[in-house]
Amino acid sequence: MSEIKTVITYGTFDLFHVGHVRLLKRLSELGDKLIVGISSDEFNAVKGKKSFFSYEERAEIVESCKYVTQVFPEHNWQQKQDDIVKYQANIFAMGDDWEGKFDELNDICEVVYLSRTQDISTTDIKNALAKVDNDELDRIESSLHDVIEIVKSLSLR
Ligand code: CTP
Repeated sequence: MSEIKTVITYGTFDLFHVGHVRLLKRLSELGDKLIVGISSDEFNAVKGKKSFFSYEERAEIVESCKYVTQVFPEHNWQQKQDDIVKYQANIFAMGDDWEGKFDELNDICEVVYLSRTQDISTTDIKNALAKVDNDELDRIESSLHDVIEIVKSLSLR
């Protein structure tokens, strides 16, 4: 049995944010190596998600994080057991939004759920950006309305 402790985790990691960084930092502190399964674009579609960044971009970003040893694609729900064996993972860990969901993996490794960073998620960022777009549209609409009023008043002269 190898002395090296390996931690494995999974996620989409779209619009990489501080919640992701803090989770990866804490995961890396649980062992010597951190292996991250990044959901493929096809698997995201199965989960009803569509990421802003492609799998290749998300994988490149996560792999560049200093807490991460290696990334690989996550194609389906069933591959976790095989991955744990393949990467000789001692700890399977996720944020606690997944609490209890992967307890069956306790048969082959330690399963850990870490608390999420409060008040940030990819969904929050997407919603905030969509709101900015709507505010911008309101401003453009109001400016156009002003221009129309000016043109109307000129044509009445
Ligand atoms: N995570 C976290 N703290 C956050 C957001 C995410 O610890 N504030 C963790 C999740 O628990 C998960 C990993 O980061 O283990 C990847 O989560 P992901 O679903 O990619 O990020 P979210 O920001 O939760 O994305 P979404 O809003 O699309 O669910």
